[in-house]
Amino acid sequence: MRNAEELIARDLACVWHPCSQMRDYETFPPLPVVGARGCRLQLADGREVLDAISSWWCKSLGHGHPAIVRAIQEQAARFEHVILANTTNELLVGFCERLLALANPPGQRHFTKVLFAGDGSSGMEIAVKLALHWQRLQGQGQRTRYAVLANGYHGETVGALSISDLGLYADPYRPLLFPSLVLDGLPYRQGPEDPRWASAEAEWPALAAQLAAQAETLAALVYEPLLQAAGGMRVYSPDLLTRLCRWARAHGVLCVADEIASGIGRCGAWLASQLAADALPDIAVLSKGLTGGSLPLTVVLTTERIYEAFLGSWESRRAFLHSHTYCGNALALAAADAALRAIAEEGLCERARTVGARLRAKLAARAHPRLSAVRGLGMVAAVDLLGCAPQARTGWQVYRAAVARGALLRPLADTLYLFPPLNAPWDELERMLDILIASVDAVLGRS
Ligand SMILES: Cc1ncc(COP(=O)(O)O)c(C=O)c1O
Repeated sequence: MRNAEELIARDLACVWHPCSQMRDYETFPPLPVVGARGCRLQLADGREVLDAISSWWCKSLGHGHPAIVRAIQEQAARFEHVILANTTNELLVGFCERLLALANPPGQRHFTKVLFAGDGSSGMEIAVKLALHWQRLQGQGQRTRYAVLANGYHGETVGALSISDLGLYADPYRPLLFPSLVLDGLPYRQGPEDPRWASAEAEWPALAAQLAAQAETLAALVYEPLLQAAGGMRVYSPDLLTRLCRWARAHGVLCVADEIASGIGRCGAWLASQLAADALPDIAVLSKGLTGGSLPLTVVLTTERIYEAFLGSWESRRAFLHSHTYCGNALALAAADAALRAIAEEGLCERARTVGARLRAKLAARAHPRLSAVRGLGMVAAVDLLGCAPQARTGWQVYRAAVARGALLRPLADTLYLFPPLNAPWDELERMLDILIASVDAVLGRS
């Protein structure tokens, strides 16, 4: 215990934790982790805490999945990292082939090429640059803007913040950001259980009018397909995706799907875009669960139409000159290849659909008077705290109460949610849910 206290003191003396008000750690210190298996984090004082948020939505196979650990160890014995420009290897090519086969409809070659980045935000930067550059190569240099969705979030780099719509993260940096067209009035639904899930007909005319006003200046439409995670775990009708993609195709605008949180099984399919008709994008960005949450890796999938526009002689200056040092890192690729196999072998896309629906039904059945708007998709269940003033930081208090009861939640303001590993056993999912409810009881009571 003394060791843990010392560690916290040393931590606060030198570590600047991400996305945190560091003052908060003075009253509620970071949890000293000594091990992690499946959904469970083991703490220095012997307690176990259930990771109900998959460690920022990435640990889709839980902690320490044996196939991923083995793949990383075996690859480390061969080589860890080699420059991706000018070299190739069997692991890299096999992984790209496997991923493209999962992303494409059976027998089709919609996506044909894979670019690499590290974190999700840098993948979004690639997508933004590719779209603008592609339009320019088509002689469409006036297409310099992006249409994005209200409440959207695409990361924290300057470009990613410019196409996001969450002032909390963007406001201090406004002078650096480029303007985007923010589409308002989305067809939010509770999820597949909602009778209005399959139709966005009522909301579409107003959205189409916003797009029409800017049609000639748009390089791309950028969106999180179906699930807006950081924007409050909101889900919208797949019919919107279908309509957006059809509109974009008809108006020379590219579609960029940010599948960083929604992809790799989370929503119940390899890509959330696959859950809507006729909605495969021109560019898709995948990250987070791609390596089972073990190492940073982002891929940007594109179609042949995008790729071909960049071909030419060196002098033509058509090449896409974008790189990150650790593009295609071999350890991350080995982990990702193992994760894709494990998700397929363990049937986790299907499980996310069925078990996620059961989890939401159970949450709705608890009918807590201080909770409303149960919603979600795949293995995501979210709910809002009712009647709490923002300055009361009730979500933060619920987080503290939940840790004391054995679960790591990380509410988005007053939205509580479970975003557990796709393979979390049912009894652990029930325990997460029980702790969520008990923590709300502890902070707000039932009146
Ligand atoms: C939809 C979405 N896009 C982009 C990002 C940014 O990814 P990263 O944090 O790896 O840069 C996130 C992260 O939460 C995300 O949820």
